[in-house]
Amino acid sequence: MLETQLADYHSRQKHEEEILRWLKNHKNSLPTPLYLYSEAVLHEAVASYRALFPDNARGFYALKANPQPALVSQFAQQGIGGEITGQAEWEHCRAAGLKPENILAGGVVKSQSFLEMLCQAGPAAIVIESEAEWERLKQVKAHAQQTRILLRINPGVSFGGLNMAGGSQFGLSRDQALAIAQECQANPRLEMLGLHFYFGSQRLEVDPIIQAVEVVEETIQTFRAAGVAIQVVDLGLGCGVPYLARDKALDEAALREQLHAHWQNPVWDDVDIWFEAGRALVARSGYYLARVIDRKQLHGETFIFLDGGLNVHNPGVGLGGFLRRNPRFHFMTNQVLGREETINLVGNLCTTADTVGTNVTAPVLCEDDLVIIPNAGAYCQTTAMWGFNSQPLFHEGLLACDGRFTPFSPQFEYVLK
Ligand SMILES: Cc1ncc(COP(=O)(O)O)c(C=O)c1O
Repeated sequence: MLETQLADYHSRQKHEEEILRWLKNHKNSLPTPLYLYSEAVLHEAVASYRALFPDNARGFYALKANPQPALVSQFAQQGIGGEITGQAEWEHCRAAGLKPENILAGGVVKSQSFLEMLCQAGPAAIVIESEAEWERLKQVKAHAQQTRILLRINPGVSFGGLNMAGGSQFGLSRDQALAIAQECQANPRLEMLGLHFYFGSQRLEVDPIIQAVEVVEETIQTFRAAGVAIQVVDLGLGCGVPYLARDKALDEAALREQLHAHWQNPVWDDVDIWFEAGRALVARSGYYLARVIDRKQLHGETFIFLDGGLNVHNPGVGLGGFLRRNPRFHFMTNQVLGREETINLVGNLCTTADTVGTNVTAPVLCEDDLVIIPNAGAYCQTTAMWGFNSQPLFHEGLLACDGRFTPFSPQFEYVLK
């Protein structure tokens, strides 16, 4: 297993070295602040995430991690559908060329009009989050075909990390879900396909993920014992990404081995596994690039100002959790001064919170030099403070496997429309 872990690590290192080499050659022609996505890393992330599941598992990309339609279309080319949280993400999927049957409709609260649109369009399934949502769905009269549903279960226990199970507002209790499943059996317009589980995000340890799978297995048995057939189980494992310099990457080789031992459990016979994932698919492909626009010495400290900080880049670990914690950095300088110094990297907003890195050891940085943050493809863009000080927002583009760079229409244009 250690060998597989090392092989994963070396292949990722190799990708990173190639991307940095390319950046070195193109650093002065790239617009900044920029999110650069590597096609090679996207492909590799899809392959390694798929390998966690049986071969016939069906995958959905959670657009909340990064709704950029050009990325959604990259995933579609890899056979991965879209998991959406509302009308706008639905539009992003459609703009990316996804057919309704490859879109899974999640989202915390679905309005009557959104449910009506979905029932006309025929998504892969609608995930029911609450009893009230179920009541709204029952009121929809026009269905293009039988509408398939999944019931999101909140088992009432939590497993650490960014918890979204026990104690959270998401999903249904097992009893609520059982009552809905039984009622659904008598409704000819609706088909209860199965269950949906998402326990939390940014998991960097194997154990909580496996504990969650064990709870899923118990829940499937409970439903079967109550006479409810389960054809599909949708799992969001919430695999994490090492954003911060001190984070240790999830041991995917160990996770793969333990998950495959679980798939042998007879409870999974006759169940189609669907998976939904955001950051595990997109985070590593993204590199955030900002340019140095100023430097200042003040009371014994060196501040390096970048053309984009918190307004365009949040390390994606959740507000409150990121302030003054350093991500991993790469630096590209135009002049080699041969010295290092300790600096604070800051953005251009009128708040001390706009600190990208504190007490960072870096080569002497001058105007136009580049600061690069890897693992920046997920949540970093969408959870940034776009409106603050009306500073310019970010560029985005793909570095294709053949070394060509293609700019994207920035994702905020879709939001501002
Ligand atoms: C229901 C649901 N599915 C999928 C995701 C994507 O999670 P991740 O990016 O951790 O894979 C989330 C994240 O909040 C979620 O709430």
